[in-house]
Amino acid sequence: MIRALPYATPLIPAFIVIGFFVWFANWIPQTRWEPPKVQAISEALTPQELAEVGRGIVRQRGCLACHTIEPGAGVKGGGRGPNLAGVAARRAQGVKDGPGDLVGYLAQTLYEPGAYVVEGYADIMPSSIAAPASLGYEEVVAVIAYLQSLGKSPTVKVGDVPRPAASARSAQPAGAATADPAAMFAALACEGCHSLKAGETKIGPALDAAGIKQAAAERGMSLEAFLMESIVDPKAYERKDFPSGVMPPDYGARMNATQLAAMVRYLAAPGGRP
Ligand code: HEC
Ligand code: HEC
Repeated sequence: MIRALPYATPLIPAFIVIGFFVWFANWIPQTRWEPPKVQAISEALTPQELAEVGRGIVRQRGCLACHTIEPGAGVKGGGRGPNLAGVAARRAQGVKDGPGDLVGYLAQTLYEPGAYVVEGYADIMPSSIAAPASLGYEEVVAVIAYLQSLGKSPTVKVGDVPRPAASARSAQPAGAATADPAAMFAALACEGCHSLKAGETKIGPALDAAGIKQAAAERGMSLEAFLMESIVDPKAYERKDFPSGVMPPDYGARMNATQLAAMVRYLAAPGGRP
């Protein structure tokens, strides 16, 4: 330790600078998505009590990154997904070619959003029982009670809502059966949230060559390392100007090493893509 000190002395200014940034990063008001607290939801709760719990879950688990709750605004609110106010009234009879009742429809929407895609919207809603929301069965019931309460009286109790079919669970998360990066970009739903064209902001930032290069520089990483980190561990570094906790955190498990390397090469090589 003593002998190491002389070598460390020239580094002291660097430590001060790093210390400043650590302090500064912690000082910025934290609006990050917090890991959900475990809710005690039992069969004893009334539909009203469940709705109150569900109200908190919808706020904590990222639903409002895409949805708005604007009474009287119709299906299209100001969000990326439909306005949830009034969903109970407009889906009282479920949907044509799908579940014919509100509770069945809402359960299907939460478990397998892609089974019925609301007209005018893209199929980008992640299953609520997979990351990032990762709702347990009781939490799904609470969310349904809350959605019912937006316009009607909640009626459901724990046990009244169907449990997810095995197919809904195993279908999520889905992998890709290809190592062609352009095909993966579509199959893994990247393109629902990212454009490859500069300035074209979707739910996430555009992944154009100049933009990601700048982001990598801001992160202080090589382009490839930054891309790798962004894909397998999106929470490691999140841009303040985009919603937090929205990019699925499980691509690391859904892509094998060959696919991951191909995707990184594809995004990093300006000439290798449109
Ligand atoms: C990444 C954006 C996104 C997130 C996050 C998201 N949704 Fe959605 N949601 C959508 C989109 C887009 C649609 C319409 C397309 C579809 O039906 O899949 C939708 C549809 C719905 C519908 C059907 C609305 C209707 O009018 O029929 C409900 C209910 C819903 N979402 C609830 C939720 C809840 C609850 C959560 C949180 C657990 C959530 N969503 C998270 C984007 C999102
Ligand atoms: C549901 C939306 C969504 C999906 C799907 C999604 N992303 Fe993202 N992604 C985001 C958001 C939001 C951010 C910005 C917040 C952050 O940094 O995590 C982001 C950030 C990134 C970044 C960092 C870019 C920068 O400028 O900081 C990369 C790289 C990236 N995503 C690649 C991908 C790839 C590749 C896929 C598909 C395998 C994918 N994303 C799927 C929403 C998404």
